[in-house]
Amino acid sequence: MFNVIAPFYDELMHAVPYDMWTEYLLLLLAQRDVRPESILDVCCGTGIVTQSLAVKGYQMAGVDLSAPMIVEAKRKAVEADLKIDYLAADAATFEFGQTYQCAYSFFDSFNYITDLGHLKKAIENTARHLEPGAPLIFDLNTAYAFEAKMFDQQDTRKKTRVQYRWVGDYNSSTRIIEVAMKFWVDGQEYEEKHIQRAHTREEIDTMLLGAGFEQIEVFDSYTLDHPRKQSDRVHFVCVKA
Ligand SMILES: C[S@@+](CC[C@H](N)C(=O)[O-])C[C@H]1O[C@@H](n2cnc3c(N)ncnc32)[C@H](O)[C@@H]1O
Repeated sequence: MFNVIAPFYDELMHAVPYDMWTEYLLLLLAQRDVRPESILDVCCGTGIVTQSLAVKGYQMAGVDLSAPMIVEAKRKAVEADLKIDYLAADAATFEFGQTYQCAYSFFDSFNYITDLGHLKKAIENTARHLEPGAPLIFDLNTAYAFEAKMFDQQDTRKKTRVQYRWVGDYNSSTRIIEVAMKFWVDGQEYEEKHIQRAHTREEIDTMLLGAGFEQIEVFDSYTLDHPRKQSDRVHFVCVKA
């Protein structure tokens, strides 16, 4: 996952409202009256949000399991003359050798960590990289999103250089979705199979509390409202004790 797709990731995601996501992160921080100087992006991908926060003056670091995604992130940072610490490593085991005043993980990244023991370690390792009082903010796709086939998407218009078709297959017993992703760049076909899990609120709360987080709140994404039955994405906000 996120290997062949890496060089085309930003083009594939051109319609994703990353700027709004960045503003929402800043809103959630302001709402908690937190003003971090240093921020860690866990599962940063090609660093789209990382870089926009670096431009705003935050001291940024990003970690991602996919070396090709980190290659893209580093290339873009050099091009933009930005100093961002990027690391290709697993969220469960990375080591930056310093702590940060905030961490976040966006765009389903924790859904991609399908094994609960693995996710627990990723959350614990993120906690280890945070100062006391520092918030952790992350989004999750919900089971509703998978059931409602929100992964079934396509853009096969001939006009764009990059076209794609995603088809999801959700198993509600295992809470696992397998998404067959096909995409075409200048007519050349590529494929990846992506696997996500719809973690429950209880599973996540247990992990956060076990890792030393408190003041856990969950929002219907991009609002300050409680999640609804039909929330397809939720944001968790918590603070390291
Ligand atoms: C949908 S992408 C989101 C990337 C980025 N956060 C964004 O908003 O564009 C999910 C990312 O999670 C990363 N990822 C999945 N499992 C991981 C793990 N165990 N440790 C670190 N990164 C992981 C993938 O490599 C991928 O870049």
